[in-house]
Amino acid sequence: MPESSLQSNQSLKYGPSGRAIAQELDNSLLDNFIEHLTMERNANVQYFSMSLWFKERELRGFSSFFLKESNEEMSHVQKFTDYLIARGYRINLKDLPSPTQEWNSIQDLINYAFKMESDLTTSLEQLYSFSERASDIRSSVFLDPIVEDQIKSEDTFAYLSGKVKFAENQPSAILIIDKELNDK
Ligand SMILES: [Fe+2]
Repeated sequence: MPESSLQSNQSLKYGPSGRAIAQELDNSLLDNFIEHLTMERNANVQYFSMSLWFKERELRGFSSFFLKESNEEMSHVQKFTDYLIARGYRINLKDLPSPTQEWNSIQDLINYAFKMESDLTTSLEQLYSFSERASDIRSSVFLDPIVEDQIKSEDTFAYLSGKVKFAENQPSAILIIDKELNDK
């Protein structure tokens, strides 16, 4: 180890929270992180609203599926906040829009969820390219497994959209899907 790195009076860099940091986050990368965090928080509330919509209609399998999705989004939120705190930043929680609570059909609702997932993927991709541009390898490494999970989420909703489409709103077919989701 070089002698200089052992000296105790070396000045450290500190983040806005006063925590020692190794590398500052690029400003536009930080803005993108906060924007993405808001999208994850929005998805958490939106999926909860969808869970309620199904519960009100006696479709408890769909309802528990969306409640799990809502909880999963909260776990994503926490991953992002933990990461930003570890990087020395304070979390600025922005206002969220009111969740959508009305849909004309199950298909409309599922398609809405699919669109939300694909928007989350687009936002993650943007975040990824900002971290690459800023040579922030820590952020790229952090984002890698999240992008992978996001692709799986898109697949889940594409599958569900296809199944609901196939059911053509027939109650018996919808109840079979509801049971499948309940057993998950
Ligand atoms: Fe998410």
